[in-house]
Amino acid sequence: MASFFIDCESVHVWPAATDCPADIAGGFYKLLSPEEIARANRFRFEADRRAFVVAHGTRRVILSKYLRIAPGDIRFLYSDHGKPALAEPRRLKFNASNSGSLSLIAVTLDVEIGLDLERMEAAENLEELACRSFDREETQELRSLPPEQKLQAFYACWTRKEAFLKAIGAGLAAPLDSFRVAFRAGEAPRVVSCSRRMGAAADWNLHDLAVDSNYAAALAYRGRFRRVCIQPRIDPVRLSASGWPEPTAPAAYGEGTAAATGGLE
Ligand SMILES: CC(C)(COP(=O)(O)OP(=O)(O)OC[C@H]1O[C@@H](n2cnc3c(N)ncnc32)[C@H](O)[C@@H]1OP(=O)(O)O)[C@@H](O)C(=O)NCCC(=O)NCCS
Repeated sequence: MASFFIDCESVHVWPAATDCPADIAGGFYKLLSPEEIARANRFRFEADRRAFVVAHGTRRVILSKYLRIAPGDIRFLYSDHGKPALAEPRRLKFNASNSGSLSLIAVTLDVEIGLDLERMEAAENLEELACRSFDREETQELRSLPPEQKLQAFYACWTRKEAFLKAIGAGLAAPLDSFRVAFRAGEAPRVVSCSRRMGAAADWNLHDLAVDSNYAAALAYRGRFRRVCIQPRIDPVRLSASGWPEPTAPAAYGEGTAAATGGLE
């Protein structure tokens, strides 16, 4: 059962398909801001444009369920490195990632989160890519693995690292080799070491997200360990058939509500 109550001990992760017929995508298009429409229109290929429109429209619908406002009324702010945040309430945090025909959005309270989703694609040059992007010891570790483990290990490492950088908000503007993560099969995801300005490695939490066998995904945040709840996958056709949610009650956050209950519904 999908839940739209979020507390300080949980992270909700919503997988959503982004492929759908043009008329369905048209419904999502109507929810977007002029800035999002301008971004959508910059895509050269129709399939990419449609995936962007559906991912952003779905994001608005999901957030609107927590906020109890209309999806089109949600306002976003962007950091210098492009990380989006809700204009209000600031304590509801989210991050998103898109790959292939899937998008992911993670939602929590009070802590910055980073999310990465990648469709796993076999490539001859995984070690070369690792050499260009990973920390030296991570690259050596990948090289030492048996061939049948390399693909999963590469994507485990990549998604954990990108999720970490997205939690910080720097994205790939910060070097991927300025910190190290654990990624061997059977090894719990964790930050092994990082530069001092990224905080203490032990303060970070990394989670793998099993959302689809063809994709790797990871979540990162700092501070206390949170329960990660992977929600049912959203299908855009079914979502648009159910109608866009209307506000049903005043938002349950702010002084005396969220502060007292530790939650946001
Ligand atoms: C963040 C970043 C790593 C995402 O790259 P990606 O693998 O292509 O994309 P993903 O699908 O995983 O994530 C994209 C989502 O991350 C979020 N995002 C964008 N910038 C972000 C940042 N700096 N930190 C965290 N999240 C960010 C957005 O929601 C974005 O989705 P949207 O564009 O549909 O809104 C990449 O955009 C980056 O390195 N950005 C920083 C570069 C920079 O400093 N730019 C300055 C000019 S804005």
